Amino acid sequence: MPLPFYNEDLMQIFFLKSILSIFLVAMALFAMFTMFEILGRADKRYNIERLRKIHKINGIFYIALFLLVTWFCLRFFAGAKTELSPRAAFHSIFALTIIILLGLKVSFVRVYRQFYGKVQTIGLLIALTTFIMAGLSGGYYLLVTKFGTDKTFSGTVEGKKGEAREEAAGKEGKWAVRTDADSICKGKELYDSKCYFCHDAYSTKTGVGPGHKGLLKNPVLPVSKKSATPENIANQILHPYKDMPAFSYLADNDIQSLIAFLNTL
Ligand code: HEC
Repeated sequence: MPLPFYNEDLMQIFFLKSILSIFLVAMALFAMFTMFEILGRADKRYNIERLRKIHKINGIFYIALFLLVTWFCLRFFAGAKTELSPRAAFHSIFALTIIILLGLKVSFVRVYRQFYGKVQTIGLLIALTTFIMAGLSGGYYLLVTKFGTDKTFSGTVEGKKGEAREEAAGKEGKWAVRTDADSICKGKELYDSKCYFCHDAYSTKTGVGPGHKGLLKNPVLPVSKKSATPENIANQILHPYKDMPAFSYLADNDIQSLIAFLNTL
């Protein structure tokens, strides 16, 4: 069963996340501005007490939004069950860094007051890390999709590797459809553990991805409209057309089995 919020197009989720990350950067910049105004000027231009309050409220909203975006990301990774691309891995490292820095900052402000002098530096580091983290994900995504308008985006490194492999495979013509029971069983097992989250095998209804009923019986694939051949399905698994995560770690044998199962739908 597709999960409730996953009924929306995955693209929209990426787009939403990108927009939210712009807000995160804006909040980080605003936090820097309030901090500079509070601590960085001899002649104060604003009411300091009020600025402190604003800085704190801004911080609370930052944490709330950060957790929301983290939840989106974790949900996606948990569902996709693939290795992270290098970009996603760096993104996660920066996100974890922010969590640690936030924890330190709050504890220095509230408990370990002797370290209070470090709070400003940590604040700056958080703002900087936010900028890098958001640039690596939302910024990158908005750039390559021309602000969400170009739908042909498929940027994973795994995808590129898969493409090379698929090309080689295509030359040998080795993606013939298997029909033996072993392959079909194995394929169903794989499907249930890796594809089921986003696809319905027994209808053509769209969850995150299109339903797969009759996939190989139709003339064309549901989204890309490439012809419905085993080659193109193998290519989709290794080098997805758009938003699907690449499964380039699957052995050729596994892909054969998946195709054998899809052929029965
Ligand atoms: C995280 C969600 C997700 C998972 C997991 C997933 N897919 Fe997809 N799939 C999609 C989306 C989204 C599309 C729409 C096309 C695209 O974005 O690449 C799609 C499209 C497809 C298509 C149609 C491609 C076309 O050209 O129209 C096939 C075939 C497919 N997936 C097979 C699989 C198989 C097999 C698995 C398991 C190994 C799988 N998918 C796992 C999201 C997913």
